[in-house]
Amino acid sequence: MTTRVVSLPTGTSFWKVNRARVRSRHGRVTRLHSKRPFCLAAGRGVDSPAGGRPSHTAHAMPAGSTPRAVATDVSDWDTRPAPADSVEQGEVEEGSFQWTKHWYPIHALDHLDPTRPHHAMLLGRDLALWRDGSGKWQCFEDFCPHRLAPLSEGRVEADGSLLCAYHGWRFEGSGKCTALPQASKPVSEWKPSQVPCAVSYPTKELAGVVFVWPESGPRAAEEAAATAVRGFPEMLDDELQATGKSTRSSWAVRDLPYGWDFFMENALDPAHVPVSHHNFVGNRYQDPTFFNLDTVRPLTPAEGVAHRTDRPFMQKTGMGTTVLDFQPPCFVRIAAREEEGGPESNICLYATPIKPGYTRAIVCQTIVNGDVKGGKKPANSVFFQNALPKWINHMFGALFVNQDSVFLHHQEKIVEHRLRAKNVKTVDGYDMPTPSDKAVIAFRTWYERMSGGGVPWAPGSPPMPPAERDPEKLYNLWDSHVRHCSICKAALAKTKLWQKAVAVASVLCLFAGIATYSASAAAAVAAGSVAIPSNIASLPLLWHTPPTSSLWAVVAGALLAVVAWQLKRLERAFHVLTFSHADNH
Ligand code: FES
Ligand SMILES: [Fe+2]
Repeated sequence: MTTRVVSLPTGTSFWKVNRARVRSRHGRVTRLHSKRPFCLAAGRGVDSPAGGRPSHTAHAMPAGSTPRAVATDVSDWDTRPAPADSVEQGEVEEGSFQWTKHWYPIHALDHLDPTRPHHAMLLGRDLALWRDGSGKWQCFEDFCPHRLAPLSEGRVEADGSLLCAYHGWRFEGSGKCTALPQASKPVSEWKPSQVPCAVSYPTKELAGVVFVWPESGPRAAEEAAATAVRGFPEMLDDELQATGKSTRSSWAVRDLPYGWDFFMENALDPAHVPVSHHNFVGNRYQDPTFFNLDTVRPLTPAEGVAHRTDRPFMQKTGMGTTVLDFQPPCFVRIAAREEEGGPESNICLYATPIKPGYTRAIVCQTIVNGDVKGGKKPANSVFFQNALPKWINHMFGALFVNQDSVFLHHQEKIVEHRLRAKNVKTVDGYDMPTPSDKAVIAFRTWYERMSGGGVPWAPGSPPMPPAERDPEKLYNLWDSHVRHCSICKAALAKTKLWQKAVAVASVLCLFAGIATYSASAAAAVAAGSVAIPSNIASLPLLWHTPPTSSLWAVVAGALLAVVAWQLKRLERAFHVLTFSHADNH
């Protein structure tokens, strides 16, 4: 079997590749035939730089630690022991990956309430996101230059400034203070060098998402302006949407209780889908199957890696070909097409490292319409592109994500524990004998050998939180989504209102039913038309046939009580949405 390496620039459509142009990328690619099981531990399976590097601290990549270019034949992956090294690498540039020279998505624009500032986090830093008078979303470090009060607790004022609600200083979009009420003369009359400034970061609004550049200052603004956002044209370019070339769904945003690297592992791992998402997508008992992954873009520090499987990764699935494209530091594209020339489904997953142990996922689907007119819509579009209200899709998406959260949250803690216990520096203990894990192996290779030491958390970032065993806390939806989502907050407010209204209507109906029955019974007793056994003469009402109106009122009251109870449950679901695999039969 020949190792195939397709050279593709990031962002192109994989489906446009002319098979005749498939070629070996460069002469340095070699093939290994080691029969050791693959294990991502220092010194086993992959080369580890001398001394290794901790996963959650920022360091420059040690000189001379550039990994060698390797590739492997995958024909014998199906049986153990497997080939030791499955990672095909492209040209490796000098220097290590620069995490702070990239755009990171922070939020979906339609989830943000522009009338107030919002707290957000990026690389362990607290940020205040707000929309200024020109309509542009701005991002400040979340402290006021006066006495460090959080600006995200301030106010967006009618003049388009951000007001620190502690002493009333105001700031314009650039970060410059424009009003300081305790000063003897207006700030505009101060020397420019003396005017206080909030720390401001470059922002960009694209495809319905606000992106933040994690460095500040004039040089950062220049670098940011010259750097493209990760993604691909059919998703990012609104003109392509307008011309019908592609259709982007609305975005789902969620803060997940596990680290950025575990999110990426999960996104690059199609084998978990029918098992972890049993009954949602596939069946855990019938659908898992053997599949291989071919490299379509070799691993490099700057461009990541892409793999493709031409064999469905689930039994009974219509998806003929799937491509997993990791674009560091924050984007994964999962492209799938069911029929040649038909529409291509792209699950677009942004993952922003917000603080140790937490990742903000920002996800949508983009359908790239194919050459075949009226081709069959991708089956998974029903999850992303439907007529349901957005908040219902947000809730459903949260439930879907929760099916993985419990694994990834504890997996990260187990890995951390092993790192400490064994005093090793790279992920230890994975046993990946089948090619379904090749994209995960490639990603871990990137993270541990090319990423310059892992996510560069800001000094003073919060520590990794402990493992959470309480499902009420692990699946907290209020803090992880609803608090920051104006759509869900509005839906919750309406749900509360309806719940109260329906509960009151239920009580009124029941009361009306009883009252009309009592009146009718009393009239019947007075008329002497009720036959009452002498031994229970004190309960004459029970012997009166209720009028139809009373029955309807009681039935309506009971039904409304059930609706009110269900609305109460829905109200709770906006706060906690638990899931248990043991109960998902
Ligand atoms: S701390 Fe912000 S105005 Fe005083
Ligand atoms: Fe929402």
